[in-house]
Amino acid sequence: MITLALSKGRIFDETLPLLERAGIAVDPASADSRSLILPTSDPQLRLIIVRATDVPTYVRYGAADLGVAGLDVLLESGSEGLYQPIDLGIGRCRLCVAVPRGFDYVQAVRRGARLRIATKYVESARRHFAGKGVHVDLIKLYGSMELAPLVGLADGIVDLVSSGSTLRANGLIEVEDVLPISARLIVNQASLKTRAQPIGALLAAIEAVLAAGARP
Ligand code: PRP
Repeated sequence: MITLALSKGRIFDETLPLLERAGIAVDPASADSRSLILPTSDPQLRLIIVRATDVPTYVRYGAADLGVAGLDVLLESGSEGLYQPIDLGIGRCRLCVAVPRGFDYVQAVRRGARLRIATKYVESARRHFAGKGVHVDLIKLYGSMELAPLVGLADGIVDLVSSGSTLRANGLIEVEDVLPISARLIVNQASLKTRAQPIGALLAAIEAVLAAGARP
Protein backbone atom coordinates (compact mmCIF):
# COMPACT_ATOMS: atom_id res chain seq x y z
CA MET A 1 0.00 0.00 0.00
CA ILE A 2 1.29 3.47 -0.84
CA THR A 3 -0.13 6.69 0.58
CA LEU A 4 -0.49 10.04 -1.20
CA ALA A 5 -1.08 13.15 0.94
CA LEU A 6 -3.29 15.91 -0.46
CA SER A 7 -4.89 19.04 0.93
CA LYS A 8 -8.58 19.81 0.33
CA GLY A 9 -9.30 22.75 -1.94
CA ARG A 10 -7.62 23.59 -5.20
CA ILE A 11 -4.89 20.95 -4.96
CA PHE A 12 -7.41 18.19 -4.24
CA ASP A 13 -9.79 19.41 -6.96
CA GLU A 14 -7.05 19.57 -9.58
CA THR A 15 -5.14 16.41 -8.56
CA LEU A 16 -8.18 14.10 -8.78
CA PRO A 17 -8.71 14.62 -12.53
CA LEU A 18 -4.97 14.06 -13.06
CA LEU A 19 -5.14 10.78 -11.16
CA GLU A 20 -8.24 9.82 -13.10
CA ARG A 21 -6.41 10.27 -16.36
CA ALA A 22 -3.68 8.07 -14.92
CA GLY A 23 -6.35 5.38 -14.39
CA ILE A 24 -6.91 5.99 -10.66
CA ALA A 25 -10.41 6.93 -9.54
CA VAL A 26 -11.72 8.13 -6.20
CA ASP A 27 -15.34 7.39 -5.38
CA PRO A 28 -17.11 10.82 -5.49
CA ALA A 29 -19.06 10.01 -2.31
CA SER A 30 -15.89 9.40 -0.32
CA ALA A 31 -14.19 12.44 -1.95
CA ASP A 32 -17.03 14.62 -0.64
CA SER A 33 -17.06 13.03 2.80
CA ARG A 34 -15.25 14.26 5.91
CA SER A 35 -13.18 11.09 5.91
CA LEU A 36 -9.43 11.74 6.07
CA ILE A 37 -8.34 8.44 4.51
CA LEU A 38 -9.75 7.79 1.05
CA PRO A 39 -9.41 4.55 -0.86
CA THR A 40 -8.85 4.66 -4.62
CA SER A 41 -9.70 2.26 -7.44
CA ASP A 42 -6.10 1.05 -7.14
CA PRO A 43 -6.07 -1.22 -4.08
CA GLN A 44 -2.38 -0.35 -3.63
CA LEU A 45 -2.99 3.42 -3.36
CA ARG A 46 -4.85 5.44 -0.74
CA LEU A 47 -5.14 9.19 -0.25
CA ILE A 48 -4.88 11.04 3.05
CA ILE A 49 -6.27 14.54 3.57
CA VAL A 50 -4.06 16.94 5.54
CA ARG A 51 -3.57 20.70 5.83
CA ALA A 52 -1.55 22.12 2.91
CA THR A 53 1.32 23.17 5.17
CA ASP A 54 1.42 19.69 6.75
CA VAL A 55 1.89 17.78 3.46
CA PRO A 56 5.73 17.99 3.54
CA THR A 57 5.73 16.87 7.19
CA TYR A 58 3.71 13.70 6.49
CA VAL A 59 5.96 12.88 3.53
CA ARG A 60 9.22 13.73 5.31
CA TYR A 61 8.38 11.35 8.18
CA GLY A 62 7.18 8.64 5.78
CA ALA A 63 3.57 8.66 7.06
CA ALA A 64 2.79 9.40 3.43
CA ASP A 65 5.01 8.07 0.63
CA LEU A 66 4.03 10.88 -1.69
CA GLY A 67 2.32 14.25 -1.47
CA VAL A 68 1.16 17.15 -3.56
CA ALA A 69 2.22 20.56 -2.27
CA GLY A 70 2.54 24.06 -3.66
CA LEU A 71 6.04 25.38 -4.25
CA ASP A 72 5.14 28.14 -1.76
CA VAL A 73 4.67 25.53 0.99
CA LEU A 74 7.78 23.56 -0.01
CA LEU A 75 10.03 26.61 0.09
CA GLU A 76 8.89 27.36 3.64
CA SER A 77 9.26 23.77 4.85
CA GLY A 78 12.64 23.00 3.28
CA SER A 79 13.38 19.99 1.10
CA GLU A 80 15.20 17.74 3.59
CA GLY A 81 14.19 14.08 3.11
CA LEU A 82 12.01 14.94 0.13
CA TYR A 83 12.49 14.10 -3.50
CA GLN A 84 10.69 16.49 -5.81
CA PRO A 85 10.42 14.80 -9.19
CA ILE A 86 7.44 16.37 -10.96
CA ASP A 87 5.96 19.83 -11.50
CA LEU A 88 2.28 18.94 -11.87
CA GLY A 89 1.46 22.30 -13.47
CA ILE A 90 -1.67 22.64 -11.34
CA GLY A 91 -2.50 25.15 -8.61
CA ARG A 92 -0.78 27.84 -10.61
CA CYS A 93 -0.55 31.29 -9.05
CA ARG A 94 2.20 33.73 -8.13
CA LEU A 95 3.84 34.98 -4.99
CA CYS A 96 4.10 38.74 -5.09
CA VAL A 97 4.67 41.92 -3.12
CA ALA A 98 1.54 44.05 -2.76
CA VAL A 99 0.97 47.43 -1.11
CA PRO A 100 -1.96 49.84 -0.65
CA ARG A 101 -2.74 51.73 -3.86
CA GLY A 102 -1.42 55.03 -2.48
CA PHE A 103 1.90 53.70 -1.17
CA ASP A 104 4.94 54.60 -3.31
CA TYR A 105 6.85 51.33 -3.04
CA VAL A 106 9.51 52.19 -5.63
CA GLN A 107 10.29 55.46 -3.90
CA ALA A 108 10.37 53.82 -0.46
CA VAL A 109 12.85 51.21 -1.73
CA ARG A 110 14.94 53.89 -3.46
CA ARG A 111 15.20 55.93 -0.23
CA GLY A 112 16.36 52.78 1.56
CA ALA A 113 13.40 52.89 3.92
CA ARG A 114 13.06 49.90 6.24
CA LEU A 115 9.80 48.31 5.11
CA ARG A 116 7.47 46.29 7.27
CA ILE A 117 6.13 43.31 5.34
CA ALA A 118 3.50 40.91 6.65
CA THR A 119 3.50 37.39 5.21
CA LYS A 120 2.90 33.71 5.75
CA TYR A 121 5.89 33.10 3.44
CA VAL A 122 8.73 34.38 5.59
CA GLU A 123 11.50 32.30 4.00
CA SER A 124 10.60 33.21 0.43
CA ALA A 125 10.11 36.86 1.39
CA ARG A 126 13.45 37.00 3.22
CA ARG A 127 15.24 35.54 0.19
CA HIS A 128 13.48 37.90 -2.21
CA PHE A 129 14.29 41.11 -0.32
CA ALA A 130 17.83 39.99 0.58
CA GLY A 131 18.43 39.37 -3.14
CA LYS A 132 17.38 42.94 -3.89
CA GLY A 133 19.28 44.42 -0.95
CA VAL A 134 16.05 45.83 0.50
CA HIS A 135 15.81 46.15 4.29
CA VAL A 136 12.62 44.62 5.66
CA ASP A 137 11.11 43.67 8.97
CA LEU A 138 9.05 40.56 8.32
CA ILE A 139 5.92 39.95 10.37
CA LYS A 140 4.68 36.37 10.30
CA LEU A 141 0.92 35.93 9.80
CA TYR A 142 -1.15 32.81 9.16
CA GLY A 143 -3.87 34.26 6.91
CA SER A 144 -5.83 37.36 5.84
CA MET A 145 -2.54 39.07 5.01
CA GLU A 146 -4.40 41.68 2.94
CA LEU A 147 -5.70 43.21 6.13
CA ALA A 148 -2.26 44.02 7.59
CA PRO A 149 -1.48 47.17 5.54
CA LEU A 150 -5.06 48.44 5.97
CA VAL A 151 -4.81 48.63 9.75
CA GLY A 152 -1.20 49.76 10.05
CA LEU A 153 0.42 46.44 10.91
CA ALA A 154 2.64 46.54 7.81
CA ASP A 155 3.54 48.65 4.77
CA GLY A 156 2.90 45.76 2.44
CA ILE A 157 2.50 42.02 2.12
CA VAL A 158 4.01 39.05 0.33
CA ASP A 159 1.15 36.76 -0.63
CA LEU A 160 -0.20 34.42 -3.26
CA VAL A 161 -2.19 36.00 -6.04
CA SER A 162 -4.36 34.08 -8.45
CA SER A 163 -7.18 36.12 -9.97
CA GLY A 164 -6.14 39.30 -8.11
CA SER A 165 -9.67 39.81 -6.79
CA THR A 166 -8.67 39.60 -3.10
CA LEU A 167 -6.07 42.35 -3.60
CA ARG A 168 -8.54 44.52 -5.53
CA ALA A 169 -11.26 44.03 -2.93
CA ASN A 170 -8.86 45.38 -0.31
CA GLY A 171 -7.39 48.30 -2.28
CA LEU A 172 -3.98 46.69 -2.75
CA ILE A 173 -1.86 46.47 -5.90
CA GLU A 174 0.92 44.14 -6.95
CA VAL A 175 4.25 45.94 -7.15
CA GLU A 176 6.70 43.07 -7.60
CA ASP A 177 6.73 39.41 -8.59
CA VAL A 178 8.51 37.12 -6.16
CA LEU A 179 8.00 33.70 -7.73
CA PRO A 180 5.69 31.75 -10.04
CA ILE A 181 4.02 28.95 -8.06
CA SER A 182 2.64 25.56 -9.03
CA ALA A 183 2.00 22.29 -7.23
CA ARG A 184 4.76 19.68 -7.07
CA LEU A 185 4.65 15.97 -6.46
CA ILE A 186 6.98 15.12 -3.59
CA VAL A 187 8.22 11.69 -2.55
CA ASN A 188 9.74 10.38 0.66
CA GLN A 189 13.34 9.52 -0.23
CA ALA A 190 13.34 6.24 1.71
CA SER A 191 10.00 5.14 0.16
CA LEU A 192 11.48 5.67 -3.25
CA LYS A 193 13.96 2.89 -2.49
CA THR A 194 11.80 0.54 -0.39
CA ARG A 195 8.69 0.84 -2.58
CA ALA A 196 10.38 1.51 -5.88
CA GLN A 197 7.93 -0.52 -7.99
CA PRO A 198 4.52 0.98 -7.05
CA ILE A 199 5.94 4.49 -6.69
CA GLY A 200 7.82 4.24 -9.98
CA ALA A 201 4.66 3.03 -11.71
CA LEU A 202 2.60 5.91 -10.30
CA LEU A 203 5.23 8.50 -11.27
CA ALA A 204 5.41 7.04 -14.79
CA ALA A 205 1.60 7.11 -15.14
CA ILE A 206 1.41 10.75 -13.99
CA GLU A 207 4.30 11.76 -16.21
CA ALA A 208 2.57 10.15 -19.19
CA VAL A 209 -0.60 12.14 -18.45
CA LEU A 210 1.39 15.38 -18.25
CA ALA A 211 3.35 14.57 -21.41
CA ALA A 212 0.06 14.02 -23.24
CA GLY A 213 -0.82 17.61 -22.33
CA ALA A 214 -3.97 16.49 -20.58
CA ARG A 215 -3.77 19.03 -17.82
CA PRO A 216 -6.92 20.10 -16.02
C1 PRP B 1 -4.97 32.85 -1.19
C2 PRP B 1 -4.14 34.09 -0.94
C3 PRP B 1 -5.08 35.21 -1.22
C4 PRP B 1 -6.01 34.61 -2.26
C5 PRP B 1 -5.63 35.11 -3.62
O1 PRP B 1 -5.64 32.55 -0.04
O2 PRP B 1 -3.62 34.11 0.37
O3 PRP B 1 -5.77 35.60 -0.08
O4 PRP B 1 -5.86 33.19 -2.23
O5 PRP B 1 -6.51 34.64 -4.61
P1 PRP B 1 -7.12 35.66 -5.67
O6 PRP B 1 -5.97 36.43 -6.27
O7 PRP B 1 -7.77 34.76 -6.71
O8 PRP B 1 -8.12 36.54 -4.99
P2 PRP B 1 -6.35 31.14 0.14
O9 PRP B 1 -7.74 31.21 -0.34
O10 PRP B 1 -5.49 30.07 -0.49
O11 PRP B 1 -6.39 30.97 1.71
P3 PRP B 1 -5.28 31.34 2.82
O12 PRP B 1 -5.57 32.76 3.23
O13 PRP B 1 -5.56 30.35 3.90
O14 PRP B 1 -3.91 31.18 2.21
